[in-house]
Amino acid sequence: MIPVSEPMLGERELEYVTECIRTGWVSSVGHFIREFEEGWANYCGRRYGIAVSNGTVALQLAVACLELEAGDEIIMPSFTIISCALAVIYNGGIPVLVDSDPSTWCMDVDQVKAKITPRTRAIMAVHIYGHPVDMDPLLALADAHGLAVIEDAAEAHGAEYLCRRDRKNSEWRRCGSFGVISCFSFYANKLITTGEGGMLLTNNPGLAEKARSMRNLCFQDHRRFFHEDLGFNFRMTNLQASLGLAQLERMSEIVAKKRWIGQDYNRGLQDLPGLKLPVEKSWARSVYWMYAVVLSEETGMDAAEFAAKLEHRGVQTRPFFLGMHEQPVFHQRGLFVDEQYPVAERIARQGLYLPSGLSLTEDQLVQVCNAVKEVLSRAKK
Ligand SMILES: Cc1ncc(COP(=O)(O)O)c(C=O)c1O
Repeated sequence: MIPVSEPMLGERELEYVTECIRTGWVSSVGHFIREFEEGWANYCGRRYGIAVSNGTVALQLAVACLELEAGDEIIMPSFTIISCALAVIYNGGIPVLVDSDPSTWCMDVDQVKAKITPRTRAIMAVHIYGHPVDMDPLLALADAHGLAVIEDAAEAHGAEYLCRRDRKNSEWRRCGSFGVISCFSFYANKLITTGEGGMLLTNNPGLAEKARSMRNLCFQDHRRFFHEDLGFNFRMTNLQASLGLAQLERMSEIVAKKRWIGQDYNRGLQDLPGLKLPVEKSWARSVYWMYAVVLSEETGMDAAEFAAKLEHRGVQTRPFFLGMHEQPVFHQRGLFVDEQYPVAERIARQGLYLPSGLSLTEDQLVQVCNAVKEVLSRAKK
């Protein structure tokens, strides 16, 4: 079975983890934490990094930093992971949804304006499957309405966006460098992993200090066990950070491999009737976190059937997200009832992603393409 994803861990990871074990710095104090925070912030073009235990709590902490009042709203795509909506709900806010752009599958920025109300506090921009959200119009809208932007760049390590707001000085910037706070996940299927892990990035020293304190139970420097605020234990361990730092050292190699996988699949699967391949907009450099495809209904198959047929041929896949507005857990709480987002609904049923791990070989990629072609050639014409 060709796995959908496998981490690529090497000698440097072993060396750094071994150092933690030899020295005993295995908990959340140790030099790897600071070096990983500074290194990742620097790579993404931000001043401060706050490492946390996973991407879900990174989002929760980012929203906590905004100090919502009960009923405040945050606009986000329906097509995302539940972590985004939970982050808002756990902070007493209300997630407000928009549909996806049918070409990039990221939030449809044109739909955001109509969802802004006097209660809106922020927009959560989620870069989907390694392709950036169209940030220029989103940032312009946020500026015009005094809204914060939280970026969820969990799936977009190293992806780049061409800022064109100033036409004379357009510049490529990395995902994670746009939001007042941006969030990352370092789960094992991400471009760089710490096993479990996450990070918040910001340029704002006040927010950095607040996030750092809340991550660590709001302990005070002058008197430990004295608390003036409600905090969390969202700390990352030195062990985890050591893995992350080792991987960060070969980030350019990792991004190059992901782009090679994406572009090779593009060549191998081009012009297949019934299959929509991922786009790369002229203003985007995708990292193809996962090589995602959407099957046309004309094939007579949905993604579940397609996945079963591929599995039968030794190819593991994963389904797309199911939109937040289709989640029973939210309906039970009176959220998103009767809301419809046709693009999110369609891609949730027709989309899946193919093996895209860093250990994928050229031979495996060819095998995957052959399996896809074979299944499609037998599909209803
Ligand atoms: C877009 C997005 N945001 C947030 C998360 C949550 O990250 P974690 O699994 O580290 O909690 C993920 C996880 O894969 C994700 O894909």
